[in-house]
Amino acid sequence: MHLTQKAISERIKNIDVVIELLDARLPGSSANPMLAELTQGRPALKVLNKQDLADPLRTDAWLAHYNALPGTRAIGLDASMAAPAKALIKACHELAPNRGGMVKPMRVLICGIPNVGKSTLINTLTAKRAAKTGDEAGVTKLEQRISLADDFYLYDTPGILWPRIIVAKSGYNLAASGAVGRNAFDEQEVALELLDYLGIHYPALLEGRFKLKGAASMTDEQLLEAIGRKRGALRGGKQIDLQKAAEIAIYDFRSGVMGRMTLETPEEFAQWLAVGQTLDAERQVKKDAIELDRKIRFKKIPRPDLRGDR
Ligand code: G4P
Repeated sequence: MHLTQKAISERIKNIDVVIELLDARLPGSSANPMLAELTQGRPALKVLNKQDLADPLRTDAWLAHYNALPGTRAIGLDASMAAPAKALIKACHELAPNRGGMVKPMRVLICGIPNVGKSTLINTLTAKRAAKTGDEAGVTKLEQRISLADDFYLYDTPGILWPRIIVAKSGYNLAASGAVGRNAFDEQEVALELLDYLGIHYPALLEGRFKLKGAASMTDEQLLEAIGRKRGALRGGKQIDLQKAAEIAIYDFRSGVMGRMTLETPEEFAQWLAVGQTLDAERQVKKDAIELDRKIRFKKIPRPDLRGDR
């Protein structure tokens, strides 16, 4: 088992609430579906982080969506918040009201995929409080324990919790947000997917940023070309440098200079997930058939008798 998964499954035995940090611009895509299995139905606090970059109306829709789920609470957060600990402590006590006091301190696990802002949040939380690492009774090697109050412990697991991408659109959204390494995707493809979505949902913000007209009626290719032209991304003075234009579009989205945008709604994500899960199940059936065939060929199991009773 991967180190992070192992660390989570070991720590979970003594955990009251699991905090999953999500990117508020792509809450569904930035969740790790494996986490629910690892955390065995523990109360969950979904923190929509980087809310300063996300569309506030959509953040409200996602918060309502999560708050309607059993055993789940959701709050929005961003690095500008002066006292994030207060909001986290309050939400965790709502989820596990029987915990608290020195005898039954609240034990909380924090998880999140890369770039979601976990280090930034932990740095803010530890600024005033001591973090204990390794060699401390009850704190495993590499693990970090932050005491947010005398009766409130926050555990941070080591390593990286990679997203498992079964939804094609999630892969593009994660790449656009910066959660996926640069070498793992094609910038032009990601920019085209991004612009396709933004052209439909946020045309006015695209027009404002790149001084365009009629963004809503432009195709993703036309938008990419227009961005290249407007921003002087030209090769040999004439031809549009689509790679450069793609990098500009992605960078401007990530940094939030286009405005506050969210790449998915709860309803959209549910649809993408349903399609992704069907394809994933089909892939699994094929994989199982290949594995069965391999075992039969290497005589690990007998060939099934397909003649039937006649
Ligand atoms: P991680 O540990 O989950 O991998 O993420 P980390 O805290 O390193 O944050 C990843 C990037 O996101 C950093 O930017 C960080 O400054 C930024 N970030 C974190 N929280 C917020 C937030 O609430 N709002 C916004 N807008 N940005 C946030 P970077 O450019 O990669 O690094 P740096 O130049 O800021 O150091």
